[in-house]
Amino acid sequence: LRHLTTLEGLDRATLTRLLDRAEAIRRDGAPRDLLAGRTVLNLFFEHSTRTRTSFELAAKRLGADVVNFDVALSSTHKGESLLDTLHTLEAMRLDALVVRHREDGTPDLLARHARSAVAVVNAGDGRRAHPTQGLLDALTIRQHRPDLDRLTVTICGDIRHSRVARSDVHALATLGVGEIRLCAPPALQPQPAEFPRCRIFDDFDAALAGADVAIMLRIQKERIADALPDDGAYFLRYGLDARRLALARPGCLVMHPGPINRGIEIADEVADGPQSRILDQVANGVFVRMAVLAELLGR
Ligand code: CP
Repeated sequence: LRHLTTLEGLDRATLTRLLDRAEAIRRDGAPRDLLAGRTVLNLFFEHSTRTRTSFELAAKRLGADVVNFDVALSSTHKGESLLDTLHTLEAMRLDALVVRHREDGTPDLLARHARSAVAVVNAGDGRRAHPTQGLLDALTIRQHRPDLDRLTVTICGDIRHSRVARSDVHALATLGVGEIRLCAPPALQPQPAEFPRCRIFDDFDAALAGADVAIMLRIQKERIADALPDDGAYFLRYGLDARRLALARPGCLVMHPGPINRGIEIADEVADGPQSRILDQVANGVFVRMAVLAELLGR
């Protein structure tokens, strides 16, 4: 791999190699000097808790130098363009640029216009892709249920605006998950042609019946221009509580990429319950990002 901007189009062998590498790091650790002398820059134009922090930790645990570019204090506010910002930062000799941006395709734009050997890693662009989230979700599922081809995975929430749903589907379909169901109110459903491998539901009870994994997503209020659904009414139809979880297979894994909106898409009793794997996802995020940086920076 030269860059990681999407999981779409990556083959099963590549995904499996990255997951195996992340699993090996989780089990055995990684050399603290693997990326010594390398520089990783986090360039986040949208807010983040998990992704930015875990990329920073991942890079530091491999010995890289890390810079967290502060967009709010940067000269982008004096009118400097994105590409001029890229070339300015490249002149300071970067090895990896981890970018989050509200516009679909920004990481690919940066990768195309880079003048150095910098590796571009997508930390989430618009509604398009969040590849390391897709990898860490696949790793979390595989740790508990390696029989991927026998699984039914239900993803519920604001699918239309979700880069996580897109990257999860790309990863899970390529890895051979048996059935992937997408559930959302009609206004938040995607175009079916975008997800040819998936069944689309608007009845959450039906989508959950017999599921082995339930991935809950928040409503991306920042990306919705029209009227937002009422929180209470949404929870009644699409919130995951203990009653609904009982419709899924016993032991169904409960996942959420975060940030959680408690009482809107998920109840406390489920988010903090024994089937919740939400904090496992967070922990795996560091291992996956270590694996990705090690792979891209080539040692
Ligand atoms: N899952 C995720 O991308 O979380 P953050 O927005 O906190 O990085």
